[in-house]
Amino acid sequence: MITIYENVDALGSAVAELFLEKACLAVAERGRFTVSLAGGQTPQRIYEMLAKPPYSHQIPWEGIHIYWGDERYVPADDIRSNQLMARKAFLDHVPIPQEQIYPIVCNSTPEQAAKEYEEVIASTFAEAEPQFDFIFLGLGSDGHTASLFPNTSVLREKKHWTGHVYLPELDSHRVTLTAPLINQARTIAFLVTGDSKAQIVREVLEGPQDHLRLPSQMIAPENGELFWFLDQGASSLLSANKK
Ligand code: 6PG
Repeated sequence: MITIYENVDALGSAVAELFLEKACLAVAERGRFTVSLAGGQTPQRIYEMLAKPPYSHQIPWEGIHIYWGDERYVPADDIRSNQLMARKAFLDHVPIPQEQIYPIVCNSTPEQAAKEYEEVIASTFAEAEPQFDFIFLGLGSDGHTASLFPNTSVLREKKHWTGHVYLPELDSHRVTLTAPLINQARTIAFLVTGDSKAQIVREVLEGPQDHLRLPSQMIAPENGELFWFLDQGASSLLSANKK
């Protein structure tokens, strides 16, 4: 489902409402709500909203379990760390038990970090095929999501739940969940704002399928729901029938 909002605040409120609804349902039905976080500026603004009233008073924090969809391979206190961003914007301000927060640990090698994170997922989900309750995703201007970047080998991963990638243009190692794991989720929410994303939003949503060039097109939950939260800027090049 694609929904377009007047501005980032309206978009944020809608995401927060969906998060609240799904969290209450999951905790009531299954005793916990497993969430995977995204990096990037758009998600950061939404995390800040979740950490403030009215949502901060309504979300069943003691049942929330936090994971990351991807991580830049840097120390946890590095300004580029997705973990650091989420802690500052969100996790440091809400009463989620610390032992329910599962960062991607970057203190060995990117390959080892990916392997260890797969083990963390295996040991904290009861199911053989883990289903995240809620996955936040951003969209990069090149069509990437999480750290599934165009034309990288991790896009071909079918078996593993995590992978790693080196991006020479950014001189950055990343660890990421793979598309097969992401697609098992119950709810996936893309958060995309700003004019600078208009062209890529159009290509991903209305262009021909080209998964190697546009990895975000790989995100299609098997049994879950997919939401695209867009603002006016990000949606400005979509064809009229989507508006
Ligand atoms: C990261 C990400 C990445 C991000 C997009 C969108 O670590 O950078 O997880 O996939 O979500 O690049 O980021 P913006 O919202 O900042 O454009």
